[in-house]
Amino acid sequence: RGKTSLKVMISGAPASGKGTQCRMIVEKYGLVHISTGDLLRAEVSSGTEIGKKAKEYMDNGKLVPDQVVTDMVVSRLSQPDIQERGWLLDGYPRSFSQAQHLENLKIRPNIFIVLEVPDDVLIDRCVGRRLDPVTGKIYHLKNYPPENEEISARLITRSDDTFEKVKSRLDTYKQNSEAILPTYSDLLNKIDGNCPAEVVFQAIDFLLQKICENTSASKLTK
Ligand code: AP5
Repeated sequence: RGKTSLKVMISGAPASGKGTQCRMIVEKYGLVHISTGDLLRAEVSSGTEIGKKAKEYMDNGKLVPDQVVTDMVVSRLSQPDIQERGWLLDGYPRSFSQAQHLENLKIRPNIFIVLEVPDDVLIDRCVGRRLDPVTGKIYHLKNYPPENEEISARLITRSDDTFEKVKSRLDTYKQNSEAILPTYSDLLNKIDGNCPAEVVFQAIDFLLQKICENTSASKLTK
């Protein structure tokens, strides 16, 4: 931990484990977690104009129009805690145009992480996923069951986690993800996401540690 403000992008198919890893990264590194999926779901549940626009796209597993999502992200990135704590972008950029937008604003990460998980595993993870609306914690009925009855009773299912919708989200991911990679080819790190969450985190933590060490070393020599 320290004053190095890390800038991290995490990408991967639906249910590849982005949200799960982000919780662990934030706990250790204190970064500001910006999840476009979470921001959009919050807009939908409070019934805002943005939420009304976004809901149809989300329910069909399509990307919400770039401008809507980009405005949300840029406005969050311009808040003062970002300089102090660094950021962790989860699920953004998700199209070539979103990546270009950040490039034009000279917003670049230190690292671009992609979690790789086979399709059949992704579908099982989505269908078994449950969320705790009180703590925001992500569970899985088989892989990561809730700790007690009280939590179990309040868990909710995401409306886009049905078999059909997951397949459509996966198609959308495949159509867009390749187009982003060239922008971050020098920062790209693919990680095997098909192992226990703690093991995936060890791999990510190793990479982030290395960046922190290099950044503070270069600061010392300046
Ligand atoms: P978003 O919320 O970003 O959904 P997503 O990309 O489909 O990703 P998920 O949240 O489903 O999965 P995750 O990778 O976080 O996995 P998790 O950790 O929960 O986006 C939703 C929608 O919003 C999009 O479809 C789109 O419409 C819109 N949107 C968002 N961003 C946008 C953008 N930039 N532009 C336009 N539109 C945008 O894990 C999944 C499950 O697996 C859990 O049950 C978990 O417990 C379990 N699990 C996690 N890790 C492991 C492990 N290592 N082993 C076993 N199980 C595990």
